[in-house]
Amino acid sequence: MKLLKNWNLPDLREAGKRTRGAVERVDTFMIPANAVNMGEGKHYWISTYGCQANERDSETLAGILETLGYGQAESPETADVILVNTCAIRENAMDKVLGELGSFKRIYNARPDVIIGVAGCMAQEDEFVKRVLAHYPWVRLLFGTHNIQDLPALLAEAMDSQERVVHIYSRQGEVYENLPVKRFGKHKAWVNIMYGCDKFCTYCIVPYTRGKQRSRRMDDILEEVRQLKEDGYREVTLLGQNVNAYGKDLDEGLDFARLLEKTAQTGIERIRFMTSHPWDFTQEMIDVIARYDNIMPYIHLPLQSGDSDVLRRMGRRYSAEEYKGLFDAIVKRIPNVAVSTDIIVGFPNESDEAFQHTLDMVKACRFDSAFTFIYSPRPGTPAAEMEDPVSMDVKRARLQELNSVWNELALEKMKAYEGRIVQVLVDGPSKRNPGVLSGYTETNKLVNFTGTGVKAGDIVPVYITAAKTFSLDGEMAGPTR
Ligand code: 5AD
Ligand code: SF4
Repeated sequence: MKLLKNWNLPDLREAGKRTRGAVERVDTFMIPANAVNMGEGKHYWISTYGCQANERDSETLAGILETLGYGQAESPETADVILVNTCAIRENAMDKVLGELGSFKRIYNARPDVIIGVAGCMAQEDEFVKRVLAHYPWVRLLFGTHNIQDLPALLAEAMDSQERVVHIYSRQGEVYENLPVKRFGKHKAWVNIMYGCDKFCTYCIVPYTRGKQRSRRMDDILEEVRQLKEDGYREVTLLGQNVNAYGKDLDEGLDFARLLEKTAQTGIERIRFMTSHPWDFTQEMIDVIARYDNIMPYIHLPLQSGDSDVLRRMGRRYSAEEYKGLFDAIVKRIPNVAVSTDIIVGFPNESDEAFQHTLDMVKACRFDSAFTFIYSPRPGTPAAEMEDPVSMDVKRARLQELNSVWNELALEKMKAYEGRIVQVLVDGPSKRNPGVLSGYTETNKLVNFTGTGVKAGDIVPVYITAAKTFSLDGEMAGPTR
């Protein structure tokens, strides 16, 4: 294959380097002259995989495309630009993306002018990029997590040249403010507070695909929250790979407790945040969460494993006992708090005993919910080099056992809601049953309920009549606000 000189190909090794240099902050968004209005009368389609950070990035991609004049397409079949915003956290994410890219061949054959592009975390991986370049010739544009802001120029280049456009940077990254955004929700919004991650858990690809930790300035974040409130948003979720480390890379002596408190003081109705890392969680943060009614009593606190040796090999920086200590401090200080977690089973060389320790921890903490995964080796990470004699069958059996344990405990937690009145922020009609409304409690429980005169964005008191493992049923119990 001919490698064109102006391609920038990803390099994971380079991406894992960290320097102490200052992060560049860019406050203005510029559209090159040859891209202005390039989308007039045209349409775009964005397909998003992965976490909330990717959802939020897709809102920026959509915002940029609409600034160029593109409208949203009804389907990929009618789009002039198709972007796939990818996730690299586990291997099955890659399989799904490749499947979707394969299905776009048809569209390209029918309309060779269509620009099919790949963005996001997977584009930061050399193996994936090589595969796409070799086997998916209909993908005309590849860019990564560090150059979303260049989309107008990249599209213009893709349209003007018959060559494929590949610009992926492995650099440490900047912070871009004021990029256009098209929010997909009208009442709930994602707010980035930081980018990247410096924790380098040994199984995780994120510090390579998203670069070094870069916190946004607190004033920029607060201004965004105030604006969202003014625009009628009722809930914000502060986003970062490790929100508790917010501010550690700034010179301003700021931390997440202060940011949370300041956000609460904007008066926005509901504040959520994710994801928390136990190592950076302080008592002060717990106190702030407890003190403000508009900070929701819901914490996503990844455990990963309940075994101290596995945790050490994962590079998580806490022992099982330390996790439990933090968990107890949270539960003690924040009444009615709900805690969810992430758990990986089958980390290299996880013994039966180590897995048992994870089950013990789940039983001791009685998590409200858990996102459970089988370990997936990510090329370029230290864990991918570790020996692993444990078979996939054993790992699958462990996952199943873990799921049945936490499901049963979670159902008990849900049952405790029966007969209680909860406040629900309404998303709209339920996906499964349009005659029923759905929304989330302060503790992030999905509620399906019946009621009249209710619209999306209302906060409604709901009397809970029945509990299931993943949702609650109820009836409206008072006026909306
Ligand atoms: N394999 C399996 N699960 C992983 N996660 C992150 N990396 C991997 C991996 N290589 C899980 C962790 C993390 C969540 C977002 O995804 O549990 O908290
Ligand atoms: Fe990955 Fe660990 Fe950073 Fe989370 S804290 S993004 S698991 S490296």
